[in-house]
Amino acid sequence: MKIGIIGAMESEVSALKETMQVNSVTTKAGMDFYEGVLEQTPVVVVQSGIGKVNAAMCVQILADLFDITHVMNTGVAGSLNAKLNIGDILVSEKAIQHDMDVTIFGYAPGQVPGTKSRDFIADPAMADAALTVCGQVNPDVTTIKGCVVSGDQFISSAEVKDRLIREFHGDCAEMEGASIAQAATLNGLPFVVIRAISDKADGSAEMDYPTFEKQAAEHCAKMVVEFVKTFHE
Ligand code: ADE
Repeated sequence: MKIGIIGAMESEVSALKETMQVNSVTTKAGMDFYEGVLEQTPVVVVQSGIGKVNAAMCVQILADLFDITHVMNTGVAGSLNAKLNIGDILVSEKAIQHDMDVTIFGYAPGQVPGTKSRDFIADPAMADAALTVCGQVNPDVTTIKGCVVSGDQFISSAEVKDRLIREFHGDCAEMEGASIAQAATLNGLPFVVIRAISDKADGSAEMDYPTFEKQAAEHCAKMVVEFVKTFHE
């Protein structure tokens, strides 16, 4: 087993890089791949950069050069579900690209042409393990399984937020998860996305976003460490 752990931003991976034993650092496509051991599990930790292209490229490099067996995406997200407040956690059951639109040719909103469904399904064993760990590590925080919707947009208006809920039944919005899901699926790799809520995706409390982002990202990284400790297949 070797888990590829991807965060888009420095705040999402720095705690992991500090905690792991680093054996080598390889730079490819402007990304630094930290290969080593985290809680006795072989891992490769990498900051992909923001957005779907960066994230998909990152998965492909992990698959081609590092021979990973599992993909995990950690970071922050905007809440689309009234049950998820700032600091709460969403574990992916599935992921959808909300900005993929080929509906004119009969595809469902979000469906990538050439696929049977718009849903990229997360590995149930990874998702169950993540859910259990998150619940145990911080019982005060709400952790639910649900739908991650991703697109190359920071969602910050009530109107767009409502559309993502209506069209995709999304629980959280971010900018990488579903492209990581697609790239992992194309490579036959199991994946899960774990996201901590940093904002309400409606433009409210924008001033506080940097503070919440940092706290949520660090919180999520802690969950990933605990996940790695307990997840063995
Ligand atoms: N990441 C964190 N919050 C987000 C939002 N509101 N939209 C997209 N990505 C995010």
